[in-house]
Amino acid sequence: MSRLRSAIHKGKRARREIIEAAKPKRRRTKTAKEEETTNAASSSTYHTFPDPADVVLLRSRLLTWYDAEKRELPWRTLAMTEPDLNIRTYAVWVSEIMLQQTQVATVIDYYNKWMKRWPTVHDLSAATLEEVNQMWAGLGYYSRGRRLHEGAQKVVTELKGRMPRTVDSLLKQLPGVGRYTAAAIGSIALGQVTGVVDGNVIRVLCRLRAIGADSTSPAVTEALWDLANTLVDPERSGDFNQAMMELGARVCTPKAPVCGQCPVQSHCHSYHKVHVKQEQNSKKLLGKLDRKTSAPPDIEDCVSSGTCRLCPSEPWDDELGVHNFPRKPAKKPPRVERTLTCVVIRCGDGGEDEYLLTQRPDKGLLAGLWEFPSLLLEEENSDTKQKRALCAEVSRILGSRLTESLLQYIGEVVHIFSHIHQTYVVHTVRLTDGQTRAPTENAQWLSRAALQEAAVSTGVKKIVKLHDSVDSQKEQTPKNGKKQKTTDKKPRRSKKPCVSGGQLSLSSFFKAVKEES
Ligand code: ADE
Repeated sequence: MSRLRSAIHKGKRARREIIEAAKPKRRRTKTAKEEETTNAASSSTYHTFPDPADVVLLRSRLLTWYDAEKRELPWRTLAMTEPDLNIRTYAVWVSEIMLQQTQVATVIDYYNKWMKRWPTVHDLSAATLEEVNQMWAGLGYYSRGRRLHEGAQKVVTELKGRMPRTVDSLLKQLPGVGRYTAAAIGSIALGQVTGVVDGNVIRVLCRLRAIGADSTSPAVTEALWDLANTLVDPERSGDFNQAMMELGARVCTPKAPVCGQCPVQSHCHSYHKVHVKQEQNSKKLLGKLDRKTSAPPDIEDCVSSGTCRLCPSEPWDDELGVHNFPRKPAKKPPRVERTLTCVVIRCGDGGEDEYLLTQRPDKGLLAGLWEFPSLLLEEENSDTKQKRALCAEVSRILGSRLTESLLQYIGEVVHIFSHIHQTYVVHTVRLTDGQTRAPTENAQWLSRAALQEAAVSTGVKKIVKLHDSVDSQKEQTPKNGKKQKTTDKKPRRSKKPCVSGGQLSLSSFFKAVKEES
């Protein structure tokens, strides 16, 4: 490990030069708007770290905390111990893509399985997209897996199998790698000296430097990258960046920050502000504050707060405390959609139930994943018309005309994507022999076991769960309407594979997965 560290350090000067070379992007002639933005943003040192001694202290406190408290995560272990630069860069790349929009706890399992199956960029490039989608199923934001696969093929075919070695080339060469991801891979895998700004870091920095303007605005974004680049420890850039993320994930959390455990509390303007305000309020309560002089001027305030682009446009809210920072613009409400979907079942050749799945287009939401035949609902149509349309769609896929009355409504499933509130209106139909021809292109019959392995979204898994639960209720309710005793341990149909009900529940096949968003 120490050899690895020294190798990283040896290349440091060269790397710093590379980073400097990458900087001109930021040094290009600024537009008038950018000039204005920067001027207003930098008019107060309140939002920066002007004292180098302060920076040194902060780095040391943060890294000491990180060394003692960090979670052992598989990608961190690989980044520390893997001597092969290509594998190390690939391993960190995979982790950073998986960690985009997905929680650490969810990623761990997926990551371990992925790295076991495709330990190198060559292995991944030889996989099929279907296999990648299968592996990704349940992680959400499926284009991430597709881009990783695309990137691996590019590295192998265009870059002679050599992963890019600088932040700039990672950014330029790898699809799906943006400013944050390139900087994270560059610092963690390659020891490049660059800061990173992700959601956790935004919160930490905004609180540290009392940045309360819209955290998605260009002025704040640039200020945060400048801060991150100022603070990053040149000797341990990867650890420093992960320490910032770790602090945001575990201490400086969005809803309940534990300021008492924060290693950089003494550097935090928000924390300080909360205490100054509390003191002022208690003095007011005790009547100790002279009304004429009112509150003493807060030396910790921004001197240009009226015009500063980093200060909040709304006044400090005592009740919010450190939550005054950061501020985000109000979120757009998600689009509301309803989709008709049909679980079509037939008895397969082997006597087992089979399910009809169709493949989504290879672009857009859930690209390339398999789903039950579906149709976006048009609200102006009546229920009858909609059912007719769904029946026509299933008939088209099967190449066989179905009767509408065979379709049975079984309930609704809600699935929340980041930008869509989706409700699946679920029907089912069990086909007889005469109705089961080979389906059209982009459709297939899958056994339960195959469905378990298939690349399907979390929405499909929820639909299966609904179908199973309705099925098992039917199972317990005989035609006379009276429920069977639940102590009946062997359901009637358990030995007859082709009748829904008593078989091992399909949903029980699926591993528990975290909600896509
Ligand atoms: N989120 C993004 N990158 C991360 C990392 N390396 N460790 C923990 N959380 C992260």
